[in-house]
Amino acid sequence: MRNVTRIPLGVAGVVGVVVAAAPLGSNRRYEVPEPALRASTDSAVIARGRYLAYGPAHCASCHVTAEQARTLDAGARPPLSGGYAFHLPVGTIWSPNLTPDRETGIGRYSDGQLARMLRHNVRPDGRVAAPFMNFQGLSDADIVALISFLRSQPAVRNAVPDRKLNYLGKLIVAYLVRPRGPSGPTRATAPGEAPTIERGEYLANYVAECVVCHTKRSLVDGSERGSRFAGGMEMRDEAYPALRFTTPNLTPDPKTGHITGWTEDRFVARFQAGKLVPGTHMPWAGFAQMSEADLRAIYRYLRSLPPVENATGPTVRRVAE
Ligand code: HEC
Ligand code: HEC
Repeated sequence: MRNVTRIPLGVAGVVGVVVAAAPLGSNRRYEVPEPALRASTDSAVIARGRYLAYGPAHCASCHVTAEQARTLDAGARPPLSGGYAFHLPVGTIWSPNLTPDRETGIGRYSDGQLARMLRHNVRPDGRVAAPFMNFQGLSDADIVALISFLRSQPAVRNAVPDRKLNYLGKLIVAYLVRPRGPSGPTRATAPGEAPTIERGEYLANYVAECVVCHTKRSLVDGSERGSRFAGGMEMRDEAYPALRFTTPNLTPDPKTGHITGWTEDRFVARFQAGKLVPGTHMPWAGFAQMSEADLRAIYRYLRSLPPVENATGPTVRRVAE
């Protein structure tokens, strides 16, 4: 198991003790109550859900095939019928079909089950989801908007395989991955779409996941290892083995902040330009579809953060293969 070297000692120690129980534990069912939220057929609600799914919340960057994902960069909006295969050290995990098909998609699930997935990372069948999604802090209204939009899509029949975890993956899911919840009280509605710091704070922390990637974290359990928004996470894509991506420092530090010298208009233009470097994990396609008001809100929020000095080096570099 060559991947074991990437796992810190603390986890290796646990390995010996729990060997026998891990395969069972990774399929454990959790009893987490379903939020009392119901999908709506109101066209304005559905439109907001569509905006979130293809824009700031970038559900589309994962819940389509790799081939469809490339069309997102050109502005296409394929149905969210899943099938993207993430090949990871812990196994292969596919993104599920989120169209309303009754056998292979979310037609099988209740509104409450879908809401619980977004707020607690517990899948409709009660298993904890591999930690790809960080939407626990979405407002009730935005969860309703997303579910309403998902239900409004044309049903696409696409049977996606269930995740196949290797031994290490089963161990990690059994012992380190837990249902989550919002870090504070949940809000009924989010700050409205306008260029305010409050709206930017909501988007950057709870919708667009900027804080997830632009904060240095433990590779094992995702816990924070650096100042929030100060960057420094290294990422790579299996299709581009010679490239390393490092998230830049987004705080307004005069020396090391990546966007300290950017005007608001430059920030907006950079986002509207979309993906410039192939292989980056930043979901540029979704962010390019954000409204100008939302982009300005994020910029204003980032400028309001306390500056943190953290030199993260180049965002993209080439390494010897
Ligand atoms: C970074 C990739 C990624 C993003 C972004 C993402 N998802 Fe997921 N989602 C996944 C993966 C992978 C799984 C399956 C996890 C597993 O197998 O444990 C999943 C599971 C789900 C499930 C559970 C379905 C089932 O059949 O169990 C729902 C519902 C869901 N996602 C909805 C959404 C919505 C809505 C959004 C946007 C707000 C979103 N996802 C954004 C990758 C992603
Ligand atoms: C899934 C991880 C991920 C998420 C989510 C993410 N980023 Fe990034 N970001 C990256 C990576 C990796 C890079 C470096 C490679 C690149 O430029 O694409 C980057 C680069 C950037 C850059 C520098 C771009 C340039 O051309 O110099 C800015 C600015 C930025 N991110 C802001 C944001 C903001 C704001 C959000 C939320 C709206 C966000 N990021 C969400 C991973 C992420």
